[in-house]
Amino acid sequence: MSSLLVTGIGQLVTNDETMGDGSDLGLLTDAAVLMEGRRVAWVGPARSAPPADTAHDVGGRAVVPGFVDSHSHLVFAGDRAEEFAARMSGTPYTAGGIRTTVAATRAASDEQLAANLVRHVLEMRRQGTTTFETKSGYGLTVHDEARSLAIAGQATPETTFLGAHVVPPEYTDDPAGYVELVTGPMLEACAPHARWVDAFCERGAFDADQARAVLEAGARSGLRGRLHANQLGEGPGVQLACELALAAVDHCTYLSDADVSALAASGTVATLLPGVEFSTRSPYPDARMLIDAGCQVAVATDCNPGSSYTSSMPLCIALAVREMRMTPAEALRAATLGGARALERADVGRLAPESAADLVVLDAPSYLHLAYRPGVPLVHEVFVGGALV
Ligand code: NIG
Ligand code: FE
Repeated sequence: MSSLLVTGIGQLVTNDETMGDGSDLGLLTDAAVLMEGRRVAWVGPARSAPPADTAHDVGGRAVVPGFVDSHSHLVFAGDRAEEFAARMSGTPYTAGGIRTTVAATRAASDEQLAANLVRHVLEMRRQGTTTFETKSGYGLTVHDEARSLAIAGQATPETTFLGAHVVPPEYTDDPAGYVELVTGPMLEACAPHARWVDAFCERGAFDADQARAVLEAGARSGLRGRLHANQLGEGPGVQLACELALAAVDHCTYLSDADVSALAASGTVATLLPGVEFSTRSPYPDARMLIDAGCQVAVATDCNPGSSYTSSMPLCIALAVREMRMTPAEALRAATLGGARALERADVGRLAPESAADLVVLDAPSYLHLAYRPGVPLVHEVFVGGALV
């Protein structure tokens, strides 16, 4: 197995509190990382680095773990730029816009959907994302959901069945019939291509009983659960997610005190998606309050053509700091280790021996610049599985 030493690291974020300065980020200065094959083999001060087949000097730049984007919707066709423009002139965001993308996705060929997905994956990677989750949910027929997941699975192992995104037009008069389809033949066709099951638990989409039926059916087919909840208003979704011990509950924009207590008492990660509040001109969730209450948080993009058409984790970090009252360290940790926890992945989101050799070299002396220099392309180089991409 060939080894590669990344050296000349001015500041290294490990996310391992036993390393370096002992902070949550486990910060080292003048550091090096030894990669063997797809894994990290050693992390420490550059002066005591072990020998390696090749060395790569990053010239004093900062290095952080690759971003883990635990929430995206990348299997779709078309865009909704006009809907965005209308929103910026005062039209509110509703779940109904999803149907526009459903129509475009159903009309697209497999090749078109795959090419669109690859385009967005490359866009993510240029911005430092090395692990991402992505969902179905714009097909909403057995065939279109199954092909969406088969296409997604070519790009990531973190695939989520979201047949319960909205009730499609042909079932408007029979939502119960649609839930039966989702929990029956659609799940059967999709489960082989998915790791996760999800539902949109929100007024205008699915209620708590329907979401529970979908999550429980998914669990019987071996899928772990995650949930979209409390995006457009308070509702039962967050507490349902905690009760079912789901890996993550995503959005969490409108929370009651009981929701916050349930999150703090559970292991369920609250995934915050500030690109949505930015793009729908909505109030941001208060991450400070969640963290101070002891909740686990992740930050992700929710990249989708409707509510948040950004693939940029650095932008989401900057928004999390400015708009959701996270510290720069908390936001970076939520965008790396937090995302890993939301995906129940122990191998990513940190840089320590045995972890995946996924890292980002920033064109900056410190990770603080991710929030301090919003909108600036700071990603200098990205390593995925030990290889420079
Ligand atoms: O996560 N909330 C539901 N689904 C997406 C939005 C999808 C869309 O508008 O196309 C979300 O925000
Ligand atoms: Fe989403």
